[in-house]
Amino acid sequence: KKIGVLMGGFSAEREVSLKSGAAVLKALVGLGYNAVGIDVDRNVATKIVAEGINAAFIALHGRYGEDGAIQGLLELMAIPYTGSGVLASALAMNKIFAKQAFQAAGLTVAPYRVVCRGEVFDAKTFTFPFPVVVKPSQEGSSVGVSIVRQESELEAAMQDAFKYDREILIEQFIKGAEVQVGILEDKALGAIEIVPKKEFYDFEAKYSPGMAEHILPARLPADLYEKVLRAGEEGHRALGCSGYSRVDFLVTTEGLCYILEVNTLPGMTDLSLLPEIARGSGIEFGELVERLISAATL
Ligand code: DAL
Ligand code: MG
Repeated sequence: KKIGVLMGGFSAEREVSLKSGAAVLKALVGLGYNAVGIDVDRNVATKIVAEGINAAFIALHGRYGEDGAIQGLLELMAIPYTGSGVLASALAMNKIFAKQAFQAAGLTVAPYRVVCRGEVFDAKTFTFPFPVVVKPSQEGSSVGVSIVRQESELEAAMQDAFKYDREILIEQFIKGAEVQVGILEDKALGAIEIVPKKEFYDFEAKYSPGMAEHILPARLPADLYEKVLRAGEEGHRALGCSGYSRVDFLVTTEGLCYILEVNTLPGMTDLSLLPEIARGSGIEFGELVERLISAATL
């Protein structure tokens, strides 16, 4: 059996994916698997055929990798793959549709509004006060995300987000602890708290050593810790995810767990959180990778 580790791709998170892929490939080879890395480009189908793989470990992030596109191709080619299927991947990647599914499942989401490129937008029509968070609908790793404290800064932040997507969200800024729940085999493993050294857990804080403190388990009262774990499982289920994910929250002092998103292909780099949460539950990286590939299905 030959496993292809699909990595790279051409989303804004390409470099992150190359790191995730390298770590996964190293682990698989270390475990004795016949595994090969495949840098995903427009010719990926040809490469998959040429390598003759029988299963795929998807170590991609962002568009074409995390949004159902590669999952659809693998379905067509009848190659079992790790993680969520086409629909759940597409839903999770789109923050607008994901929010609707979270709301329908009774989860707490920050108030928001959607703005489309070209739409005449009047900041006066806001129903919630500054600060707000501006983000592209379909991106990862906080690419294109900014916190806006006053109306005069809004336009620049929106233009930045529009570089990445034709639909953006303007969300109420929620003051709370950044807490992420790791899900494996559809069950919550634990919750980690992130304390960024900067204003928020942006791209730099995510991937530069020392730019964010990781606290495991998250410093929450026992009942709230349990609540966020359950909310993580509900978020994963609300989108129809399979197997694993990392569900991100802002938890307020009032005990509200605002769900931000479900990452269906969470980072697997040295600084990534799902591997750290797994390690905290006694699951070393190699075992995590092995459990994920063992669960690969069509
Ligand atoms: N989008 C990045 C890879 C993450 O969620 O870890
Ligand atoms: Mg993400």
